[in-house]
Amino acid sequence: SSPTQSDLRTPIVAVLGHVDHGKTSLLDKIRGSTVIEGEAGAITQHIGATAVPLDVVSEVAGSLIDPTEFDLPGLLFIDTPGHHAFTTLRARGGALADIAILVVDVNDGFQPQTKEAVSILQDSQTPFVVAANKVDTIPGWNPNPDSPIRPTYEEQSDRVRGDLDDKLYEIIGELSDAGFSSDLYWRVQNFRANIGVIPVSAETGEGVPDVLTVLMGLSQRYMKEEMEVDVTGPGAGTVLEVKEEQGFGTTLDVILYDGTVAEDDTIVVGAKNEPIVTTVRALLKPRELSEIRTEKRFDQVDSIAAASGIKIAAPDLEDAMAGAPVQVVRDRDTQDVIEAVTAEM
Ligand code: GTP
Ligand code: MG
Repeated sequence: SSPTQSDLRTPIVAVLGHVDHGKTSLLDKIRGSTVIEGEAGAITQHIGATAVPLDVVSEVAGSLIDPTEFDLPGLLFIDTPGHHAFTTLRARGGALADIAILVVDVNDGFQPQTKEAVSILQDSQTPFVVAANKVDTIPGWNPNPDSPIRPTYEEQSDRVRGDLDDKLYEIIGELSDAGFSSDLYWRVQNFRANIGVIPVSAETGEGVPDVLTVLMGLSQRYMKEEMEVDVTGPGAGTVLEVKEEQGFGTTLDVILYDGTVAEDDTIVVGAKNEPIVTTVRALLKPRELSEIRTEKRFDQVDSIAAASGIKIAAPDLEDAMAGAPVQVVRDRDTQDVIEAVTAEM
């Protein structure tokens, strides 16, 4: 039988780039626009991730997207820090992701962590697009808030567009030095062979519809088969952080990329020495942003399916490690799962 939307996993999108190039601002803009759009479905705050459902994607993308062409449930974004100290988090984010956005400040161009991100994506063979951010800072830029980028690009004066072109060609040159051919995204026919470069402003929202459209198109076109996973099967994920949580002891912040995890499931978690075998005591979802100031920061859920970010409370997690695999045992032999987790460490 052909898969329905509920059988398809949400693609995971890592947002990577040099410090201060605008990764978090771009995600904030995507989140913020959806508040303004009102009718669109709510954005879920996840542990270390932001889920943007298809109806929100199509609200933001506007005329660029025909939602009937899509059957993927939306996109799950993972923000990563650009500071040089956080190489491991970037590598983990890159490895987890199905696709990625490389954010590059058009004025700053390629910087050390931009290059590092490119090599992470190269090593993990993660397809990506480039968001050439902060186009609004080009002197003389005439902003066109929240608009698709191509018409606003074409409306700029020749001088402004020439300035932007020079900066974009520098980025295209850097990508070429790294072994990638790329072009302005509207000239790209085959996003597998060529990297699409999307001029964007996280400040004015110009180009944000294009970013969502390209990501959605890329996942739908090239990743759909990989998204046809059985999300009712035993869960698999990666530990982002090991944290003390009041009332719950040591907990794991996990990105679940496959299957389902439920309360009382036996899980195997990668650790400093032997993998930990334990039982899920509670699954915690962060509350909506508006509710975060109330004393209860989390909602407890019985089970959750991929792709999602979730906090797992369980006994004996003290030796768990960030970056380690987590697997639900379910109907399998525990020893086999321990071996699988050990092999992944
Ligand atoms: P790290 O998480 O530290 O790596 O930084 P980041 O990439 O998440 O950058 P962040 O979104 O925090 O933005 C850094 C600064 O750039 C902030 O002051 C933003 O307001 C500003 N900024 C981001 N995007 C834009 C943009 O498109 N235009 C302008 N003018 N400023 C921007
Ligand atoms: Mg940030």
